[in-house]
Amino acid sequence: MGKPYDPETLPLQPIAVFDSGVGGLSVLRHIRAQLPHEQLIYLADQINVPYGSRSLAEIRTFSEAITSFLLELGAKLIVVACNTASGAALTHLRQTFPDVPFVGMEPAVKPAAAQTKRGKVGVLATAGTFKSQRYEALMARFARGVQVFESPCLGLVELIESGQTDSEAVERLLRACVLPMLAEGVDTLVLGCTHYPFVRPLLSQIVGPDITIIDPAPAIARQTTRLLERHDLLNPAARPGAALAFTTGDAANLSEFAGRMLAFSMETETAVWRGQSLIIPPRRTIW
Ligand code: DGL
Repeated sequence: MGKPYDPETLPLQPIAVFDSGVGGLSVLRHIRAQLPHEQLIYLADQINVPYGSRSLAEIRTFSEAITSFLLELGAKLIVVACNTASGAALTHLRQTFPDVPFVGMEPAVKPAAAQTKRGKVGVLATAGTFKSQRYEALMARFARGVQVFESPCLGLVELIESGQTDSEAVERLLRACVLPMLAEGVDTLVLGCTHYPFVRPLLSQIVGPDITIIDPAPAIARQTTRLLERHDLLNPAARPGAALAFTTGDAANLSEFAGRMLAFSMETETAVWRGQSLIIPPRRTIW
């Protein structure tokens, strides 16, 4: 599956990053900043967003097909820039594609537990993440002695997908999610969904300067760098790498959002589901 392995040319191939929608762009921007010479491919499965309310089995099926698609495009490393997909599928992906280096995500409960002064942490993540075994294991391992308050912030992913990051509707929803946590004495908030860093400026205004907000994206970019180094896969190119995005939804929409949120430009194309596989539709010839 994927391009034949050639240790000479593999470092020149792209890093691939995927999410259910625009959320993974909050990770992609840190990868770009830390690894400017890498070629990047981004896949947003926007026809199926939100993943957070789907079954774990369904998300596993999507994630496996997306991985095959990204490998066909030559990906040398895959970042699952989605807490929900990582929770549902990362173990399965590592078993199914044992030669592929994967970087996954999980809510940053460990650093939050280390930083909280009052021993109270709030986690904002999707319902899918909260019901995953990966999250359960994370809590058992790192949240001992700390009180954790969870909110699935229902509807927030959809608002962000519609391009809203500081609207009244977003503000209302954020207040409803975090004010009860603050009333309980939470002093540290974990952004456990990659969509949420896009509403961080508004969230910071709501919670004020005394609350620590943790976005794991910079750490994920560092982990990506470490993994590339470990596998001898760093791109030796001297000039900035190209970036190409695919969406199973509306390419113009994704392009508009990316244009607003990223400091670099990306071509955006469409990918379509055919049965349980993702394909790039053949280009129409117009002459
Ligand atoms: N961005 C994804 C995450 O990190 C999930 C959003 C969704 O529900 O699709 O969990």
